[in-house]
Amino acid sequence: MLLGTQLPGLLGRNAHGISSVISRMSENQLDGIVKGLHHITLVTSNQVINNKFYTGVLGLRRVKLTVNQDDVYHRHLFYADENASTGSAITFFEWPELPRGQVGLGSPHHLAYTAPSIDSLKKWEAWLISQGVSVTGPYARDGRVSLYLRDPDGVTVEITATDPDHEVTQQYLDEAKKNPGSVTAITQDMRLTKFNHATPVANDVKLTSMFFDKLLGLRNPITKPNPDQEGTTILEIGNEERPDFMRYLISEEASHGFVGKGNVHHIAMVVEDDESQRRIMRRLNDLGIQNSGVIDRFWFHSLYFRDPDGNLLEVATKGPGYAADEAPEELGTKLVLPSWVEPQRKEIETFLRETDSKNRQAWPPRYPKVATPPEALVVALRVASRGPSSR
Ligand SMILES: [Fe+2]
Ligand SMILES: [Fe+2]
Repeated sequence: MLLGTQLPGLLGRNAHGISSVISRMSENQLDGIVKGLHHITLVTSNQVINNKFYTGVLGLRRVKLTVNQDDVYHRHLFYADENASTGSAITFFEWPELPRGQVGLGSPHHLAYTAPSIDSLKKWEAWLISQGVSVTGPYARDGRVSLYLRDPDGVTVEITATDPDHEVTQQYLDEAKKNPGSVTAITQDMRLTKFNHATPVANDVKLTSMFFDKLLGLRNPITKPNPDQEGTTILEIGNEERPDFMRYLISEEASHGFVGKGNVHHIAMVVEDDESQRRIMRRLNDLGIQNSGVIDRFWFHSLYFRDPDGNLLEVATKGPGYAADEAPEELGTKLVLPSWVEPQRKEIETFLRETDSKNRQAWPPRYPKVATPPEALVVALRVASRGPSSR
């Protein structure tokens, strides 16, 4: 089994020598080329439980059931909004053999989906509690309101909403909690839309800022104190339209995490087309930063590299899209393989059946408890390191 995509030269940290590379960077012409997030990929222990949770509990739609192209005997599951929109897809490699992962440098802390309104968060809280999911919040912070939960593998998922017309105070939210109400189904006004942000972990504000600013043209990152943990910082990175689709959690004391079950594997940003992607690749090559080269993933084209702390990043094209090989109404209903993997279908299906027979898990799962406060790095590490017995 391959831990991660099989990307030559990309299996280690990228920090050695990168600060001198970055300091040599000239101004670049890539401003505006990165549009936001494309997808976020994680690791799950069991596709059946994973599917029930992301479709039945979070109300997403499975839009692709395929295999990991770098490890074709393991599944790759894609969930997105109803229209399979770019920037809404959370994807999972099913790797039951992998140990539980740990948040830290190179292994991101959490991801956040956007909810349609602050009112819908109250419904989400009631719904998730009714499903036995551990929830904390809502918290009013930094102009947004957020609720946090953990999926059956332990991934921290934030659901966040803003209301530009009204400032919502914590006091208001605490008062509203006294009347929780009851919700028996996910209604249209609750549907999650695109990702709001991803939160990798890094050591050095300056280095991470320069990396995104000078390499990808994501200008003027902003730092803010982390309200959940003194001594740590939130570094907001984005473009004019989406100024904080990356919200790094910066701690000088953060140690290395590792990717495993229940953790983010990589974070993909979106570019409009192949030419934009090639421009980024040329810049990586000019600067001597290791990268995968462009890889055809059939539903999009991918380019991988690591940030200075070893977090695996991808730049993916918008097209061709998830409907390239399935009718829009049939997305994700059967195992599809890219044409070059199709000759191996019989062996793959046999292997997956064997995996399933050895990998039975009960539904509903015993949900891991969500950390409080949810965006504290130390707490997250402590919770993650307790392992399965804490679940
Ligand atoms: Fe967050
Ligand atoms: Fe990806």
